[in-house]
Order: sequence, then structure tokens, then C-alpha cells
Amino acid sequence: MPSNASRRTFTAGIVFAAAATLAPWSFAQDFPRYGDALYEPTLRQPGKDVMWLPTPDAMVKRMLAAARVGRGDVVYDLGAGEGRIPIAAARDFGATAVGIEYDADLAALARRNAERAGVADRVTIVRGDIFREDFSRATVVTLFLLPDLNQQLRPQILALRPGTRVVSHMWDMGEWEPDEKVSTDDSQAFLWIVPAPVAGRWRLAEEDGTSFGELELVQRFQRVGGTLCLRGRTQPLLGAFVNGATLGFTFVDPFGAVRTLRAQVAGDTMAGRTNFVGTTAPVTGRRVAAAAPP
Ligand SMILES: C[S@@+](CC[C@H](N)C(=O)[O-])C[C@H]1O[C@@H](n2cnc3c(N)ncnc32)[C@H](O)[C@@H]1O
Repeated sequence: MPSNASRRTFTAGIVFAAAATLAPWSFAQDFPRYGDALYEPTLRQPGKDVMWLPTPDAMVKRMLAAARVGRGDVVYDLGAGEGRIPIAAARDFGATAVGIEYDADLAALARRNAERAGVADRVTIVRGDIFREDFSRATVVTLFLLPDLNQQLRPQILALRPGTRVVSHMWDMGEWEPDEKVSTDDSQAFLWIVPAPVAGRWRLAEEDGTSFGELELVQRFQRVGGTLCLRGRTQPLLGAFVNGATLGFTFVDPFGAVRTLRAQVAGDTMAGRTNFVGTTAPVTGRRVAAAAPP
């Protein structure tokens, strides 16, 4: 008896196949030839967990531009096909890139394509399973898989370094809302920025170590809220956000002044500044209790 998850994957696979066949994208027109003299893959050929179908080049550019890929980045394409995303990341955006591809023929073709594009020194193609290979070095992750596969990978993706950008062609991540949506004439992609885990109780201190206040944060992916207790008075945070490793919010101090705090979170510590009468002052924080389970 197939599980609900495998039934959903199967259904999503059918939707994927139907969308790929019927959608206005004419992959065959855009890409008349995919392989080389040694190997010519076939559109929609079966793959381990999802079939092979290339992302159109216009969308590849949109995805990498939306993720602001640059020279310092390490881009991982999970299920790399014939390598077009890692190759574009290296050739057009100056990044270092890794493609993980299960199919040995596609992986070998991707390596040859990287050589032909003159970027073999910055593109590595790993012949392996995306559920087994380590991609924790990524600063950018690209996906063109299936909804269920995105969700299976979600815990691993959320554990990546805060600020890592994730772009998925066509499919979203369920209840983890995208930070941005991009589209071309005939397709769409979603972008997320991995948020630092900030939930819990934090003790904030001024530069000289005196107490600044106590912060209680609740979090669902990149959405955060909570309270700040200053001199025994608790208030809700205004406009709280977490963007990668940056936490920010607005509050009202005991003298009625509206102030903001911006801090960089690193594990159980944070360091930042709060504005104060036309200047800013350093503030540090230490997490003293983890978040209560939802
Ligand atoms: C829809 S294609 C996307 C190809 C490429 N990323 C692109 O956007 O042009 C998905 C690719 O994932 C590969 N694949 C499927 N399951 C995989 C797995 N478990 N590990 C690695 N690759 C896999 C398939 O062989 C196929 O090449």
C-alpha cells in the first residue's frame, strides 16, 4: 500500500509531467539539442526521484539574479541534469558551483558541458543522491524537483547557514512562504533566505554589561514576533523581522522614545546596535532559554 507521501509524490509527478507537456513552455524549441556525440538525453526521461527536464535558460538567469549570485558564492544545484544551472552560475555570475546528479550519463554530460563552457575549474559535478550528499557549504541552493521533494529537503535547507539563498523553479516549500517570487513569460520560481533560528528568551546587555532588557521571541520560518521587557514593563515588538542572520525590531523606551534595534545573530548570541538620541549604542544578547515547543 503506498504511503500518503509516496501517493502525493506520484500525483505531483503526474502534474509535473502534464505541466511540462502542456505548458506554453516549448522546451524543445528553446533547446533543440541537449547532449553531445557521446550522449543525447531525452526530455522527461525518468530520474531517481524526478524526471529530467531542463529549466529554460531565461529562468536560470532570473533565478540566479534573484539570488544575487556573485563571485563569493558557492551554488549547489540539487538534481543538476546536464549542468546548465551550475554552468551559468560560474560562467555568467562568477560563482563556484556544484551540481549533484544521480544519473551517471547526465552527470558525465554535465562535466563535458562545463569543460566546453570553459568553467570546469569552477564547476564540480558530483554523481550522487541529493538525499545523501552534503551540501552544507552552499551559500545558494537551486532546485527544480517536486513539491514533496522540496518539503523533504526543507529541514536540511533550514539548517544551512542563515542568509543562504534558496531558489526553486516551479515548486514552493509548503508553509514556508517565499521571500520573493520571480517569473518569466511562461514559468515561475520562488526565493527564500534561510532565517537564523531566533526563538527563545534572550537577555540583552549594554556595552558595559548592564542589563538592557529581556527579549522573548517566537518564530515561524522568517516570521518573528515577541515582547521586550524594559525596566519591568513588557511591550510587544513592532515590525520585528529576521532576514538571514539579521534581527530587527522597533520598540518604545521607558522615556517614550521610539527606538530600533538591529543585531546579527550567531547561534545563542547576538550583537548589534540600538539608536539612541541621534546616535547608536552597542547591544549584545545571550539566549537563556530555548523556545517553548509549539
Ligand atoms: C527536473 S530535472 C532539473 C535539472 C536541472 N536542475 C535544471 O533545472 O535544468 C531534475 C534532475 O534531478 C535528477 N534527480 C532525480 N532524483 C535525484 C536524486 N535523488 N539525486 C540526484 N539527482 C536526482 C534527475 O535525474 C534530473 O536530472
